[in-house]
Amino acid sequence: MDKVIIAENLSLSYKEFETIISKANFSIDAGSFVFITGASGSGKSTLLKSFYGAIEPRAGSLMVGGVKMNRISTGKLNFLRRHVGIVFQDYKLIKEWTIEKNVMLPLIISGYTKDVSGAQVQKLLGHVKLIHQSGKYPPELSGGEQQRVAMARALAHNPILILADEPTGNL
Ligand SMILES: Nc1ncnc2c1ncn2[C@@H]1O[C@H](COP(=O)(O)OP(=O)(O)OP(=O)(O)O)[C@@H](O)[C@H]1O
Ligand SMILES: [Mg+2]
Repeated sequence: MDKVIIAENLSLSYKEFETIISKANFSIDAGSFVFITGASGSGKSTLLKSFYGAIEPRAGSLMVGGVKMNRISTGKLNFLRRHVGIVFQDYKLIKEWTIEKNVMLPLIISGYTKDVSGAQVQKLLGHVKLIHQSGKYPPELSGGEQQRVAMARALAHNPILILADEPTGNL
């Protein structure tokens, strides 16, 4: 079976002589659904960050969707991110944009026309039961509603890989 993520002796840290993740070896099959559990501060979000290139391997190797994440070029990273959906622990919604436009963001980046993306956004907002809130702005929504917007946005561009950091923490 195809592997969507392969880590070999993967070590991660924010500073040079610190270790958050130490020599991790694992692979994740395409099409599988995997939970990562661990105490607060143990490195779950850090590990997810390495999967979308927000932190580089300190040592070892990491492959995501067939792309090597060690010293990845900006071009390759942008390509990869167009195929990954991310639900951030702190949502990272754009406050100045309506809910509808927030969900549309991955489609805007991928260059879909407004007609196509509008229909897709309505479908996704329906899934997360937020059609009635689509014209509002993130600060006008409850924490759980904002989390549902983040989920809809992560699915908008039919990603090959969905990374969700505590996606139901407020639901
Ligand atoms: N940007 C950063 N700079 C420096 N250290 C960081 C940074 N982000 C996280 N850390 C540290 O890395 C360690 C792991 O943090 P991480 O956010 O990965 O934990 P977590 O398992 O996701 O925790 P939680 O369950 O609380 O979300 C913590 O000790 C944290 O202080
Ligand atoms: Mg975390």
